[in-house]
Amino acid sequence: MNKIPRHIAVIMDGNGRWARQKGLPRAIGHQEGVKSLHEAVETLDDVGVKYLTAYTFSTENWFRPKHEVELLMKLMARTMDDERPGLIKNNIRVRAIGRISDLPQSLQDTLSRLVADTAKNTGLTLCLALSYGGRTEIIDACFRAVKEGKAPQTEAEFGALLYDPSLPDPDLLIRTGGDQRISNYLLWQMAYTELYFAETLWPDFRKKQLLAAIEDYAQRQRRFGRIEED
Ligand code: IPE
Ligand code: IPE
Ligand code: MG
Repeated sequence: MNKIPRHIAVIMDGNGRWARQKGLPRAIGHQEGVKSLHEAVETLDDVGVKYLTAYTFSTENWFRPKHEVELLMKLMARTMDDERPGLIKNNIRVRAIGRISDLPQSLQDTLSRLVADTAKNTGLTLCLALSYGGRTEIIDACFRAVKEGKAPQTEAEFGALLYDPSLPDPDLLIRTGGDQRISNYLLWQMAYTELYFAETLWPDFRKKQLLAAIEDYAQRQRRFGRIEED
């Protein structure tokens, strides 16, 4: 049981390539990607993972073509509405991190409603990283310190200024889509996270592949700079 990660962070990459390989528009790849996230939430809640942080839209993703950005904003709003009853029923708590004020007002409203409606749930916490960048998060924490007249001296004090200090650091990062990079994700929080890179494109990354990643994590020995214990 202690081999089950408490917090998994996921970089859901490869939706566009999945669609291209099938000769389909990118929109269909993103739609299929939503199904993988749905399945991940169900699976992780079943196996007892407490937190899933999903990289949904990065600060860099704003530089994609306008029609793709609009498509993603619409898909996120629609998905939040469609999934709301199921999330409430299944005791999933939704949170969000990122520069939420960058999002269209209607999406912000939909998101606030989802967060409020699931706030008291006690199952898996699904944290959506939206207009999220790790460097921006660190800068925003500095701005917040100045605004609140704080001068953090310790890691704990600095960590308390991040977007959601209630989230523990991720134990495991999963990136799908074959690239082995962090892409500005959770830079502060991932100091000691175990990294898992899968070739599988996100729309094809379902329960089986997710359980394989958790299995791989269970074989690892985390030392945190210390000497191996026997
Ligand atoms: C990830 O899939 C989804 C988002 C970044 C929003 P991509 O859209 O990056 O898919 P690829 O990398 O082009 O295949
Ligand atoms: C990372 O994927 C961001 C999300 C999955 C939301 P990208 O497709 O944006 O990453 P890069 O550009 O390949 O590093
Ligand atoms: Mg990508």
